[in-house]
Amino acid sequence: MTLEQMQAELEASLKPSRFRHSLGVSETAVKLSHHFGVDEEKARVAGLLHDCAREFRNEAMVEEAEKRGIAIGEVERSMPLLLHADIGAVRVREIYGVEDPAISQAIARHTVGGAHMTPLDK
Ligand SMILES: [Fe+2]
Repeated sequence: MTLEQMQAELEASLKPSRFRHSLGVSETAVKLSHHFGVDEEKARVAGLLHDCAREFRNEAMVEEAEKRGIAIGEVERSMPLLLHADIGAVRVREIYGVEDPAISQAIARHTVGGAHMTPLDK
């Protein structure tokens, strides 16, 4: 998928304010990539798609995670919203054709972070 196709797909699946937020995060990620020596295109795509699974409601969020074999701990069980990071990390491949594991990892870590985060994750 081209960047334009990704944007169109994302716009169709998010409410307008979240789509605008995603465009802003993408733009900021690109700026930060120059300072921290990160690949600009990876930062652009990770920023754009980081919330691509954010529209599911709590129950659906748990279902979507279970469907993909994503581990649901006690914390996620009580706050299913957190799962949008892990689900998004998988959906970028499923829906947007993003095969780069570094981008998936950055999306997976955009809520609570993780150990040994890469500059792209950050
Ligand atoms: Fe998010």
